[in-house]
Amino acid sequence: MSGGVVRSMPAEPDENFMRALDRAVRHSIPKPIALILNYPANPTAYTASLDFYKEVVKYCREHSIFILSDLAYSEIYFDDEVPPSVLQIDGAMDITVEFTSMSKTYSMPGWRVGFAVGNERLIAALTRVKSYLDYGAFTPIQVAATAALNGSDSVIEDVRTVYRDRRDVMVESFGRAGWTIPSPKATMFAWAPIPDQFAHLGSLEFAKLLIQETGVAVAPGVGFGEYGDQYIRLALVENEQRIRQAARNVKKFLQSQPSHGNVVPITAAK
Ligand SMILES: Cc1ncc(COP(=O)(O)O)c(C=O)c1O
Repeated sequence: MSGGVVRSMPAEPDENFMRALDRAVRHSIPKPIALILNYPANPTAYTASLDFYKEVVKYCREHSIFILSDLAYSEIYFDDEVPPSVLQIDGAMDITVEFTSMSKTYSMPGWRVGFAVGNERLIAALTRVKSYLDYGAFTPIQVAATAALNGSDSVIEDVRTVYRDRRDVMVESFGRAGWTIPSPKATMFAWAPIPDQFAHLGSLEFAKLLIQETGVAVAPGVGFGEYGDQYIRLALVENEQRIRQAARNVKKFLQSQPSHGNVVPITAAK
């Protein structure tokens, strides 16, 4: 709306992140206004620690950069470690707004309801922009969201269990098919490196090949940014039986391929 430009950075929350952030800030003219964070992340499933957030908040305070944190997957986690909020860091409230969605926690995608918390001035600005755009969500959706938020949290545990079970089935069955999928600690996605023999294709061509040859639809990593082209995103949106079926198709396909080398042209897969 106001002509902002997005600059991508590698998203893994480690020491390289801070170096990349500093580089991006130094080499951007005009200076960046805000840093957008999304952990647990779609598509990478990376999770952030409080120590990481501490570093980021310190840096952004020093450089007068706002933090916009997308915490949509806060409740979809599979270990004992609960994903933290950046607002847990002292001083974060001065520069941060954090967004949450009902979509994932309560399986309400498309209902278009969530909430934002954080710095009063930023929330006031957001409220004003929002008031120009719409008049508020359809009342039954607001009532449903209220019921979900005030209701028992057991439903959230049920949602987590569904995704955790699907994740385990996916990692195990695709692993047996010959494709090692790193096990995501959170979110409803796995972020998988393209198998070596197809790496030269890049994510878009590999995704097309998979759908043609196996009927399995994945999201090409490049669709999420320039750093994603050696990955594809697998979504845990099908039931366990369908995931196993997908893995069987992938296995047949991989077994039909020469096992070594980077020289498989697309047509050779037919
Ligand atoms: C990281 C992230 N943020 C926000 C959203 C959107 O949430 P909503 O359905 O509330 O617009 C998604 C949905 O895919 C998401 O993956």
